[in-house]
Amino acid sequence: MNIEEIAKKMVSKGRGILAADESTGTMDKRLKSVNIENNAKNRLNFRETLFSSKSMKENISGVILFDETIRQRTTSGVTIPELITNNGSIPGIKVDKGGKLLAGSQNEKITEGLDGLRERMAEYYNIGARFAKWRAIISITKNNPSTQCIKSNAHALARYAAIVQEANMVPIVEPEILMDGNHTIDKCYDVTSSVLQECYQELEIHKVNLRGTVLKPNMILPGKDCKTKANKEEIAKKTLECLKNNVPREVPGIAFLSGGQSEIEATQNLNEINKINDTSFNFTFSYGRALQQSALKTWAKSMKNTKKVQDVFDHRAYMNGLSSKGNWSEDLEKKIA
Ligand code: 13P
Repeated sequence: MNIEEIAKKMVSKGRGILAADESTGTMDKRLKSVNIENNAKNRLNFRETLFSSKSMKENISGVILFDETIRQRTTSGVTIPELITNNGSIPGIKVDKGGKLLAGSQNEKITEGLDGLRERMAEYYNIGARFAKWRAIISITKNNPSTQCIKSNAHALARYAAIVQEANMVPIVEPEILMDGNHTIDKCYDVTSSVLQECYQELEIHKVNLRGTVLKPNMILPGKDCKTKANKEEIAKKTLECLKNNVPREVPGIAFLSGGQSEIEATQNLNEINKINDTSFNFTFSYGRALQQSALKTWAKSMKNTKKVQDVFDHRAYMNGLSSKGNWSEDLEKKIA
């Protein structure tokens, strides 16, 4: 498959991406929250359970892996990328090295990881990865984001995307505007618009083929501590509007991050966006927490009961699969659960 075909497959109707690329540090938080020791064996056990589930064929188009996981083997001896591919999904890899303090700015982050990226991409391709992810982190405060932060992160994203395509892989372009803070939904709309504009300018300068990319944005939401809440209709309308105005039509699909929304919120909001989608974009999910939370809790309680964990994960993946077509409802959520 060429990169345009891979990108299309990643966002095909009824399917979305499982973001299981938590770094060892982030896994520490996740596993501590369910009182499980954070070691390589436990991380592999949980992930292998998810990657062997039924929904991999039906609702999960791709899996984003962390460097440790892509090199691991299952208990039956196949490599993790082989397991994912055999189950009908595409293995991908997180290649950024995280957000570091941006010099000259107040408490903002710049995502690092460009040095040596070309060589790392060649290795990841050989191990089986066919797409990559790089996440830029933008926070909203009274004075931020600064132009410096927006421009430097967009530049890094574009350089990353060009290198990934050179290695015949699809770059997921992820500029995440964090939900933290008390900003309004309209502020999120404005900041997301500026960031997307800057990103697509840089991607053009770096000659990235947009048909061979997937955008992974935040939805347009009020900050977590904002007093004025928004309903699903407003979130869907503003998210669709913002993406319509700022994302070039060549981009085949948009796979949202969940960013701290609950499992149900993330499913419901995606569904609402698809109900009113009047664009050529396929809107789907690339969720981490919103796909794994319940499965993680179940696994922590009954690690040996693989089927029980997989049933919980399959349910969430199926519900989001329905949302990616605008066919989800609260009734179905309850009935099928
Ligand atoms: P969440 O869906 O938990 O926000 O994670 C998605 C992701 O990959 C962030 O980079």
